[in-house]
This record gives sequence, structure tokens and C-alpha cells, in this order.
Amino acid sequence: MRIAFFDAKDYDIPSFEQYGKGSGIEFKFFEAKLNEDTAELASGYDGVCVFVNDTVNAAVIDKLYALGIRVIALRCAGYNNVDLGRCFGKIHVVRVPAYSPYAVAEHTMALLLTSVRRIHKAYNRTKDFNFSLSGLTGFDLHGKTVGVIGTGKIGRIFIDICRGFGMRVLAYDKYPAEDAGIDYVSLDELFSESDVISLHCPLSEETYHIISADAISRCKKGVIFLNTSRGALIDSDALLDGIKRRQVGAACLDVYEEESDIFFRDFSGHIVEDDVLARLISMPNVIVTSHQAFLTEEALGNIAETTVKNLVAFRDGLPLENELCYQCGKVDDCRKTRKKRCF
Ligand code: NAI
Repeated sequence: MRIAFFDAKDYDIPSFEQYGKGSGIEFKFFEAKLNEDTAELASGYDGVCVFVNDTVNAAVIDKLYALGIRVIALRCAGYNNVDLGRCFGKIHVVRVPAYSPYAVAEHTMALLLTSVRRIHKAYNRTKDFNFSLSGLTGFDLHGKTVGVIGTGKIGRIFIDICRGFGMRVLAYDKYPAEDAGIDYVSLDELFSESDVISLHCPLSEETYHIISADAISRCKKGVIFLNTSRGALIDSDALLDGIKRRQVGAACLDVYEEESDIFFRDFSGHIVEDDVLARLISMPNVIVTSHQAFLTEEALGNIAETTVKNLVAFRDGLPLENELCYQCGKVDDCRKTRKKRCF
């Protein structure tokens, strides 16, 4: 089985070669992202493997289907970039539901600690033999309140980490986990009570700009936002405005709503056209990492292993454990829950 692997990076290739060996799945690595112009590269392949910033909209899906592609293997958990309705009945979509929730949760805390203890500034200073402490005063996390939006795999690990620091944890989830010992509150209460707000819910129509200008105005003055989930959960213009007005105390962003043409690439020496991103990065209280929260050896191994298993199951006609739910509406006759494929 031959798979066209889009948006391939040097750190992807070794693990996919390792786990692909002996499976009968052969990957062809393309640097190009999948979009309407590059879909043609999938000609002659049986499936495609894509990541967070590949475009899998209706036009791309129609092209892939016409080329004979019958499986899209997402090598990530989030799938907001895929038009699932368009795929239903034509192309199976499988994903890696969890590769290392620890990687993302730990990165979130790394960002928070870096920000509140000014590690990013101290690192640059001592590299320059500047040992002054002026401007480096931080604050204790112990006793502070963190509001966690989305208490799935990553959110819950982040909650445990925060509790280890002696923080008070409040949470909001559209589907609260019963008996999880989590103190669920309304979004309003979370906004007004939290010193730190961390986003761990998926991006959807409902959660788009969940951190809006209005939400920011309802937060405590000096609130810190952590986003290691999806960029468009935060209205970046509103965030920038909140920072300028000192309403927002700091922001740590591993994702950005317009990241797809910027993140994962080297723009040093070039002019970055995105004024909002450039202005955010120029702020002393904003830390940006380029969607690297997942990037640990453990996670890369799990991603490759699960993706190969997903593709082998598809090729061998087996049930697709990690097939995405297309929301087909057949609630009383769900093939997936009967351990079959969705179609
Ligand atoms: P998960 O599916 O285990 O948890 C998501 C949680 O969000 C669930 O508890 C769900 O009930 C909740 N949720 C759904 N709709 C909601 C809404 N409207 N409002 C509030 N909560 C809602 O997902 P997991 O594995 O914890 O991942 C969370 C997110 O992290 C993913 O959606 C993905 O966008 C992001 N992610 C980022 C990575 C990175 O490298 N920065 C890597 C992996 C995931």
C-alpha cells in the first residue's frame, strides 16, 4: 500500500520509516502541504497522510477521491482542518487520538513557568553575562487559580500538574466528566475567578474565538492565557488589544489562528507579513512556540505506530478503531459502535 505523506518534516521521517518497515505500507514523503494545488501529487497512491496545517476541504477531498484515494490518515488528534461531511461515504478518515497527552500538558506548564519566572529573559541575559535581576520578579503559582477549558486527556493531565503546584483548579467542559473530582463551573465564573486560563478543548464552531474581546473583558485584570490547543480559540486581535490595555498580563501561545503559512518554517531573515503575530511576539509578556507542544520522542513514536496500524487495518478490511465520527445522524444504527466501519 502506497501512501503520499504531505508536509513531511525531518523529524517525521525516521519514526515513520521505522514503524513502516515490514508492515507493507510504503510512505513517499512530500515537503508540500496538501491543498488544491498539490492534491495531484497523490496520483498513483492509495492513501494520504496529513498533519494539522494541511487543507482537507471539499475541493481537495473531491480531487483525492477522483484520484482513487480511499483513506486519509491524520497523524494528529485534532481534525478541524477536515471537511468530514464531504468524506462520509467516500474516503475513510482515521486519526491518532492520543500520542502523548503528557507532552502537550507538560509543554503548557513549561510555558507558564517560563512566563511567570521570566526564564526567557534570564536565559538571554546570562548568555550576555548580564547578571542583573532587575525586571525579573515573578510570582508563586501556589495558591493561584487556574481555569481549564476542556477536561479531556490533555486537560486532565494539566489539572494534575497544576494541583502538584498547589494551584486551585476550576474547569469548564461542555461534557463534564462525572466523578472525576473536578470542580466544574460556568464559563463566566471561570473567566472572573481565574488568574491563569488554559485551553484544552477542540476547535469547533462553538469554540471559535471562545476567548473573545468580551471574554477578555470579563476576566481578572492581569489574566494569563495559555493556548496549546488550536489558534482560533483565541481572537488574536482582541488578545493584542487586551495586552496593550494591560487587561491581559501574559499570553503563552503554541498555536496561532493564522499559523498555517508560518509555523514549522524558518522565517529568520525574512519579513513576516502578519502584523498581529509580529506585534504579539514583540511584547515582553508573550511567548510563542511554533506548535511544538507534541514534539517529544515518545509522541513521534506513538504517532507513527498508530498511523501505520490505522493504515494496515484499512488495507486489511478490519474495523477502524480510530475512524473519525462523521456525525452521519444514524444514531440508532451506528455501524461504528458495532465495531464496524462507518460506511
Ligand atoms: P480530548 O478529546 O481528550 O478532550 C477535549 C475535551 O474538550 C473533551 O473533554 C470535550 O468534552 C471538551 N469539549 C468539546 N467541546 C467543548 C466545548 N464546546 N467547550 C468546552 N469543552 C469542550 O482531546 P485532547 O487529546 O485532550 O486534546 C485537546 C486539544 O489539544 C485537541 O483538540 C487539539 O486541538 C490540541 N492538541 C494540540 C497539540 C499541540 O501540539 N499543540 C497536540 C495534540 C492536541
